[in-house]
Amino acid sequence: MPETTPKGLTGLAFGGDYNPEQWPESVWTEDVRLMREAGVSMVSVGIFSWALLEPAPGTYDFGWLDRVLDLLHANGIRVDLGTPTVVPPVWFFRAHPEALPVTADGRRYEFGSRGAICHSNADYRAAAANITTRLAERYADHPALALWHVHNEYGVPVSACYCDSCAAHFRRWLAAEYGTVDAVNEAWGTAFWGQRYGGFDEINPPRLTPTVGNPAQALDYKRFADATIRENFRAERDILHRLSPGVPVTTNFMTALSQCDSIDYWAWGREVDLVTNDHYLITDGRRTHVNLAMAADLTRSVAGGAPWLLLEHSTSGVNWQPRNPAKTPGQMARNSLAHVARGSEGAMFFQWRQSRRGAEKFHSAMLPHGGTDTRVWREVVGLGASLDALREIRSTRTVADVAVLWDWHSWWAQNLEWRPSEDHDARERADAFYEALYDRHLTVDFAHPEADLSAYPLVVVPALYLMTEAAGRNLTRYVEGGGTLLVSYFSGVVDEHDAVHEGACPGALRDVLGLTVEEFAPLLEGDTVRVTGPDGTGLAADVWTEFVVPRGAETVWTYADGPAAGRPAVTRHRLGEGTAWYVSTRLGADGLDAVLARAGEDARVPARPDLPRDVEVVRRAGGSGSYLFVINHTGTDAKVPLDTPGTELLTGESAAGRIEVPAGAVRVVRLDG
Ligand code: GLA
Ligand code: ZN
Repeated sequence: MPETTPKGLTGLAFGGDYNPEQWPESVWTEDVRLMREAGVSMVSVGIFSWALLEPAPGTYDFGWLDRVLDLLHANGIRVDLGTPTVVPPVWFFRAHPEALPVTADGRRYEFGSRGAICHSNADYRAAAANITTRLAERYADHPALALWHVHNEYGVPVSACYCDSCAAHFRRWLAAEYGTVDAVNEAWGTAFWGQRYGGFDEINPPRLTPTVGNPAQALDYKRFADATIRENFRAERDILHRLSPGVPVTTNFMTALSQCDSIDYWAWGREVDLVTNDHYLITDGRRTHVNLAMAADLTRSVAGGAPWLLLEHSTSGVNWQPRNPAKTPGQMARNSLAHVARGSEGAMFFQWRQSRRGAEKFHSAMLPHGGTDTRVWREVVGLGASLDALREIRSTRTVADVAVLWDWHSWWAQNLEWRPSEDHDARERADAFYEALYDRHLTVDFAHPEADLSAYPLVVVPALYLMTEAAGRNLTRYVEGGGTLLVSYFSGVVDEHDAVHEGACPGALRDVLGLTVEEFAPLLEGDTVRVTGPDGTGLAADVWTEFVVPRGAETVWTYADGPAAGRPAVTRHRLGEGTAWYVSTRLGADGLDAVLARAGEDARVPARPDLPRDVEVVRRAGGSGSYLFVINHTGTDAKVPLDTPGTELLTGESAAGRIEVPAGAVRVVRLDG
């Protein structure tokens, strides 16, 4: 069994990407002195250094990296060592121009940025294996080495390549998946628009077509692209396992950022020794701490509930969004500790020292251009001390209340073209349901639709358009066994090949929901409808309505107007020991809360009315004890009741009856007993 925690790291991880190659060596000694001052325990090194490590084919220069690792080791700082395979040197591309990826419309990218790689290219694969082998041979026994960091953020900025090598690779992949070309024709429904293939050699990637291409082909290409990138991760990982046993291998995920929707992290979570994640606040005016919590919950879930590590976030603003606000005082610590509350074994950043040159010079860092006499630096030092005070929470696990189903394949399928309404966005519904659960102070585990759900009193299905028959049976079993299910519209519609399930919609769910949907009746842009509830109260909805026909389900909310006026809007179905709810329209936050309140009663999940909005309360528990994290995202002081007395770890004060958390602050209580 490979190791799953960074070797030799005794506390929580605190540090960041360290790019000493951007600086003269005289700066390095100041770097490590300041790292020690801030309490840095681990840094990520060498992620983009291939051109420096192998300046010409077969010529290596490890001297500088030796000196960096020795210096870090001498100062007690552990190293997360990168394989630099995300940016091959320019000499490689001049010798192998076909290793640069090609877009769906046939244009080839040029060298000069990062991540421009055709993952099917045999020369790239050989070169990546070679540099990985050289690094592993040289550093396997280096005393600073704690963790291997393969590549960087697989899946971005190029999620798929459409070149001829990829076409050949796709055909091999299809042959292995389907066996015969007839099976492909059947699965892709190529009888439609006369797309029938006579042999695998006739099949290409879904390149530029004049109108919509075959959706099942497009979906399979996403699966193929993800599997291809994963093959390359595995190849590097296996080299590292062989040459560097005892050191865990990771690659940094981006689980909940919609910037990266091309990776099936359920599959990737099973491949890494330690799940690590990068998270950046998307500052488009939403409550950024909610997306952060969602990312952390999703990351923990792809890690199977085990501890994971936040490998990158920012101390303040980033530089790649249209507008990049600075974090407010205290926000960096709140962000960091919110990840820790939800299972991260520390908080790492991009990057240690802010660059002077290159594309990321306006991205914040732990050590800003202004040096140590800056607010960011003082907050970094403070965070180092806080993480040190929390070190005993290591290896404990976050305790969840409910589950939300999540499936990248369904998301890919939902985003294909020609749907009933382009205003419906599966990701938007997932965010909205997550936010509604967050506002009810329920901690969420994400789960694959075919996973065992019996541990959860409530399972929410925000928008799962693609659902296999096995997933449908899984949900039926879950409800019959006593679970409460809450499903949003346009779920369970198609199978794994984007084919509509046989019979009335929603094929995978009609039995468990006790209804059929006769027609989708999406609304025109800007139109809204009202739905009327049990006590006569109305809720607003938009984007989507349906003609729902109950077949066993009872109607709880009814459309008051719009195309579905008089028909059921929200239904409830008793089945076996459990209950299945269905929401056939896009409710706003109030509406979702009202439905969740009712479903929550069926599920007997705690209501928690005494917790203030935007005060996050999350528990981690395990061998060393039970810890309550209270994160106050508001501008006013908050009081949170404590069932059990305990000791607050950041202030050292004892707490009983309730814990007071100043505006913008975090408190972590070790509960007695
Ligand atoms: C990503 C990358 C880093 C850096 C940051 C900036 O997470 O992995 O190298 O570019 O973004 O936010
Ligand atoms: Zn390619």
